[in-house]
Amino acid sequence: MVKYSEDYLALGSNLDPEDYVFTTYTVETSDDIKNVAAAIAAEQSTGTWTQVSTLDKEIFDKYSGKVVDIDGEKIVVAFPVDDFSIDIGGVPQILSVIAGNLFGLSEAQGIRLEDVQFPNSVLKEFKGPKFGIDGLRDVLDRPEKPLVGTIVKPKIGLSPKQMADYVYECGIGGLTNGKDDETLSNQKFCPMEERVTEIAEAIDKVKSETGHKMIFAINISTRSDEIVEVAEIVQDLGATQLMIDVITCGFTSVQAVAEDPSIKLPLHIHRTMHGAMTRNPNHGISTKILSTLTRMCGGDALHIGTFGVGKMEGDSSGDIENMNECISDRLPYKPVMPVSSGGVYPGVVKKTVEISGNNVQIQAGGGVAGHPGGVRKGAAAMSQAVDAAYLGIELDEYAKTHEELKTALDKWGYLK
Ligand code: 3PG
Ligand code: 3PG
Ligand code: MG
Repeated sequence: MVKYSEDYLALGSNLDPEDYVFTTYTVETSDDIKNVAAAIAAEQSTGTWTQVSTLDKEIFDKYSGKVVDIDGEKIVVAFPVDDFSIDIGGVPQILSVIAGNLFGLSEAQGIRLEDVQFPNSVLKEFKGPKFGIDGLRDVLDRPEKPLVGTIVKPKIGLSPKQMADYVYECGIGGLTNGKDDETLSNQKFCPMEERVTEIAEAIDKVKSETGHKMIFAINISTRSDEIVEVAEIVQDLGATQLMIDVITCGFTSVQAVAEDPSIKLPLHIHRTMHGAMTRNPNHGISTKILSTLTRMCGGDALHIGTFGVGKMEGDSSGDIENMNECISDRLPYKPVMPVSSGGVYPGVVKKTVEISGNNVQIQAGGGVAGHPGGVRKGAAAMSQAVDAAYLGIELDEYAKTHEELKTALDKWGYLK
């Protein structure tokens, strides 16, 4: 074990929040936690495993990370704002500092990044969402109710025409949103350009027949040097929303598309692969940080988990934190629409809205396409569940006069 310099410990210091980025980690260690804290502050700023002759006092004082608090397993490190390079560097450089080498330090068995607070000088370099909650509501003419959507299932295999038929049925059933699944891109069975065109026609048809507005997020996740071009192509073909997988593509891909002046579509942000870094409670990165960075980079809607009612691991309190990070005033940007998705079905909708309030997009793939009456009735059951939740009526009560909802509750049950 390396003994890190105690000069990195500045416990109890009262530092100006405008001059530092504050990060909170939980640490699991058999070493002295002070040494691990010093190791993190050192490795992520001016230090290394041994003293180096080139580190003079001036550099140390200006640029060293400082451990300002240790409380049980929680430590807080303050990194000087001058350690960050936002114009060239951006989120990759931020992550290299606050979430870089530290995860591999041998002094700890586990380190988890729980929170980051940026000073205004950093936050103002980011633009946040173009649309956000209000912008999405305007596009959909849906001022108050939760948004209700689907993920086309099966996630791969359907042709563009089959997907468009599916989307049409969902629109007629009352859904406001649809999206590609995260593994769908431009495979031979469903070329992206054809899919965009067909789905745009389906959405127009729903609108002209019923007046109901719907948008559909096309998954444009791809290599970073081409993502803006792909966004432009699908926008020109009539796409109404774009989806980006933020972990596999990177935060800068979201930022590049969000800030490109030619792109006028809202961005739906999915988090596939996040479980590799977020699931272990003792090591990795809290999902809340993904919400922070996605909002800074301009995502308009973001998956936040399902408050423990869906198929993916995730506890309600963590998902509430994710949601709060999407909407709170702590960040000076438009609020991001929180998306509850993954194993959702009509029977969990009321519970969800009780936790989230109406500013949420609730989505079901299997919970629509698995309805015994087919996709249209599955979509109707989901939108009836959202109406019941919005009106504050119990689902079983509402189901007495809404047959599609009744069938769904009979099949999957419901949470009181
Ligand atoms: C899915 O793709 O099934 C999920 O919606 C993923 O949900 P998560 O982002 O909450 O993990
Ligand atoms: C998503 O991408 O959000 C999911 O694929 C959810 O699918 P499910 O509702 O069938 O779990
Ligand atoms: Mg999916």
